[in-house]
Amino acid sequence: MSTTRAAVVRGVKEPWEIVDLDLDEPNEREVLIRLAYSGLCQSDRHFQVGDFPARFPLVGGHEGAGVVEKVGPGVTRVAVGDHVVCSFLPVCGTCHWCSTGHQALCDLGLNAGTGQMLDGTFRFHHGSEDFGGVCALGTFSEQAVISEYSCVKVDSSLPLDVAALLGCGVPTGWGAAVYAAGVRAGDVVVIYGSGGVGSNAVQGAARSGASIVAVVDPVPFKREMAETFGATHTFATHEDAYEFIKEATWGRLANHAIITVTDHTVEITNQATSIVGKVGSVIVVATGRHGENQIEMNTQSLKGFQQRIQGVLFGNCNPLSDIPRLADQYKRGELRLDELITRRYRLGEINQAFEDLAEGKNIRGVIEHS
Ligand SMILES: NC(=O)c1ccc[n+]([C@@H]2O[C@H](COP(=O)([O-])OP(=O)(O)OC[C@H]3O[C@@H](n4cnc5c(N)ncnc54)[C@H](O)[C@@H]3O)[C@@H](O)[C@H]2O)c1
Ligand SMILES: [Zn+2]
Ligand SMILES: [Zn+2]
Repeated sequence: MSTTRAAVVRGVKEPWEIVDLDLDEPNEREVLIRLAYSGLCQSDRHFQVGDFPARFPLVGGHEGAGVVEKVGPGVTRVAVGDHVVCSFLPVCGTCHWCSTGHQALCDLGLNAGTGQMLDGTFRFHHGSEDFGGVCALGTFSEQAVISEYSCVKVDSSLPLDVAALLGCGVPTGWGAAVYAAGVRAGDVVVIYGSGGVGSNAVQGAARSGASIVAVVDPVPFKREMAETFGATHTFATHEDAYEFIKEATWGRLANHAIITVTDHTVEITNQATSIVGKVGSVIVVATGRHGENQIEMNTQSLKGFQQRIQGVLFGNCNPLSDIPRLADQYKRGELRLDELITRRYRLGEINQAFEDLAEGKNIRGVIEHS
C-alpha cells in the first residue's frame, strides 16, 4: 500500500478536489505506474457534469503517460522501467473484437466505463471509501494501479508529455479522419471543432491528401492553430463554411464532415449532414448530454444520396499498433504533437485548467505531475 495525490470529483457538477488517497498494490495482470503527464480532455468534463453515467467518487483523467514502477503477478506486456501510454480503452488482444481488428471495442472496455478495475474492484481508497478511476485509469493521480491491458509501451526517447496525448486526443482525431471517414487524396473535408481532438482530425485529413480541409470553430485562436495543423480554410460559423464549400465544389458539397465539438447537439448534426453531398459521410466523435438525442432527422437524403453516419470510439484505432505508429510519425516529423500543448498546470491548478479549456484558451492543457 502507498499513498498518492489525485484530483477527484465527488458527485455530478462538484468541483475537482485534490486529495491524498491510499493506493493498493498491483493485483494479477496489473501494474503500478508513476504518471508524468495527463492531458485534459473534454470527456473528463463530460464525466464531471454527468453526461456520461458514472459512479462517484471518481479520480479523473484518461489521457496519460508515465513509467512502470511495479508489476503484479502474471504481467507479460510491460516491465519495471518501461515508458507507457495509458490507452483509454483496455485491449485484451484475444476477445472477438480485439482479434478481428477492432481493439477499441475490446469486451473489457465496457467495464472500464464505470471507473472500476476490470475485475470490478477498486485500487484507490480513502478510509473505507473506494474511488474509481475514469476509464479504469485515473491519470489525474500522481500514481495509479492499472491493468496491463491499458498499457502501451513506447520508446523511452519519446517525450512523456506528447506521449500522454497519444492515449486519447491524437488517435481519436487522427483516426476519425483516416479510419472512420477514410479520407482519400482530393477529398473535401469539413471539421466542426478544432480542439484537442479536432486538431488531429485536421492532421489526419491533411496527411491523407484532402484537397480542402475546412475547419469551423467560433474561437479565433483555434482557427489560427488549425492552419498550423494543415487546415486549408477556417470559418467562425457553419453558414460561412457552407457557402464556401458549395462554391468550391460547384454544388457537389463535401465528402466528409467530422464532428469534434465540445457538446454534440442536434443542431451540429444538422449542420454536418447538410454540408456533405452524395455518398458523403458524417463522422460523430463528440459527446452529447446523457438522456438527450443528438440526431433527429428525416432519412430521405441519407437513402437518396447514399450517405453514411459513422460513430467513432478512439478514432476506431487499434491502440496496440496505432499508438506506436503515431509515435513514429511524430519522430519523423509527420505529426505535430508539441504544438498541441498550449499550457502546463500543476495538479492543484486543475479547476483553473478546466476553466481555461472552457474559455477556449487551450488546444490541450496538460497536468505536469513531477
Ligand atoms: N468518441 C471518442 O472516442 C472521443 C474521445 C475523446 C473525446 N471525445 C469527445 O470529443 C469532443 C471534443 O473533445 P476535445 O477534448 O477536443 O474538446 P475541446 O474543447 O478541446 O474542442 C472542442 C472544440 O469545439 C469548438 N466548438 C464548440 N462549439 C462549436 C460549434 N457549435 N461549432 C464549431 N466548433 C465548436 C470549441 O471552440 C473547441 O475548439 C468532446 O465532446 C469529447 O467528449 C470523444
Ligand atoms: Zn479523451
Ligand atoms: Zn479484447
